[in-house]
Amino acid sequence: MYQIYPRAFADTDGDGVGDLRGVTASLDHLAGPPDSLGVDAIWLSPFYPHGGVDGGYDVTDFTAVAPEFGSLTDIDRLLAASHERGVRVLLDLVTGHTSDRHPWFAAARASRANASRDWYLWADPRPGTAPPTNWVAAFGGSAWTLDEGSGQFFHHSFYPEQPDLNWRNAAVREEMANAMRFWLDRGVDGFRVDAIEFLIKDRRLRDNPPAGPPLPPWSPEPGGLRRRWTRNQPGVAGVLRHLRRVTDEYPDRVLVGELYASARQVAAALGGGRADGLHLALDHQLAKSAWDAKAFRRAIAAAERHLAPPLSPTWAFSNHDLSRHATRWGVERARLAALILLTLRGTVCLYQGEEIGMTDLVPAPGPGPDGARRDRAGRDPARGPFDWDEAARQRSDHESLLAFYRGLIELRRRAPAVRHGTLSLLRGLPPGVLGYERRFEDEKLTVLANMSHRRTVVRLPSGHANTQLMATDVDQVHPTGGTVELDADHGVVIG
Ligand code: GLC
Repeated sequence: MYQIYPRAFADTDGDGVGDLRGVTASLDHLAGPPDSLGVDAIWLSPFYPHGGVDGGYDVTDFTAVAPEFGSLTDIDRLLAASHERGVRVLLDLVTGHTSDRHPWFAAARASRANASRDWYLWADPRPGTAPPTNWVAAFGGSAWTLDEGSGQFFHHSFYPEQPDLNWRNAAVREEMANAMRFWLDRGVDGFRVDAIEFLIKDRRLRDNPPAGPPLPPWSPEPGGLRRRWTRNQPGVAGVLRHLRRVTDEYPDRVLVGELYASARQVAAALGGGRADGLHLALDHQLAKSAWDAKAFRRAIAAAERHLAPPLSPTWAFSNHDLSRHATRWGVERARLAALILLTLRGTVCLYQGEEIGMTDLVPAPGPGPDGARRDRAGRDPARGPFDWDEAARQRSDHESLLAFYRGLIELRRRAPAVRHGTLSLLRGLPPGVLGYERRFEDEKLTVLANMSHRRTVVRLPSGHANTQLMATDVDQVHPTGGTVELDADHGVVIG
């Protein structure tokens, strides 16, 4: 799967903002011709009309296209062109909140008596004018904003301009189901479901407790509080089952959720053994990890434990919210990162530009070309314009990073062991080396990744075949006589 952030992907009308026609015009880069990347699906970040506050994640209309991105006709064309190449198209379903400029919120805000008041989360101040709870928003500050007109606070998990929807309200569930059907009827293949951890908040509005001992790296808790009553509440599973039921009204569609959580919580979002929740859930534990073989090993082991078949993990190293991994871990590690990512068990999601080694960019000062505000949470560096000149250069260079990604994707396609085999972590490797075996029926492949700073010799398990299938650097790695020598930041797939 390949994530497209449309604003920064391809601009066909020269207004400085990417558009849907740009995506359609760029499909050759993604799939089709032999020198394309070869992805199976794309996920489009939001292109809906929006309030200009959260990069499109502050939606004012769930069933329309913002004029700067194009029109519904452009979506239909993109769907047809993608399907012609066998590429599935997933949209971003922003379920947790709307923009404060959405007509639903305008109506809810207008008066306490309004029928749709309960579509959002309102609460009276604590004695005086204090917010109803101590809850903190993901981007800082109180998660409550006072609505002067009614004297009540409304809740927002993110920016104050993004009031949270009340998923306990049946009308909200039905409206969102209708928005889904609107797109599914048009032929969309599924959704990436935004920020599912925050869909339900404690009904009793209990204060979050202070954060205790060190928390896992993938859930930095804001304001020194543990999000005990605001994150991954039991009711989330019911909402996901509802979304799944709507999706299942259509054949062969998929729901991929976004969450930053432990493998155990990811399994819960998939509906556990009942598998009646999301089909897939993006696992950000590696994305949030340091470049460290032990840490990678731990995250992969957790996925094997909690997401054993029929469940499976969905891995990504980068997205529009995180600093790009070529910046976080270093450009010199981009090849080894790709080798690891694309040989893991499960589904892989790439973020536009990682295949050509894009790093974070320093955004120019002032408002964006579309007048949209700069991201207050500081995520613009990962949202720089796709470098098409670099992509064109790499396309014709068979030693480029792009060619390496293409080769790895091709290996996934061709080798059942990588596509759907089991994964067993190898033990007893030299420090700093990550290794695992992928196996399907008689086919067995071994992945070795030297994540350390030193050249290292790895002894292969006895009786191991040693055909080199992929290597980060063809000149350096030669499996001979049961050993493989790996330079720092190099790795190999052998079979
Ligand atoms: C998700 C999106 C992020 C957005 C947030 C609020 O985490 O990926 O970009 O800011 O939801 O909608």
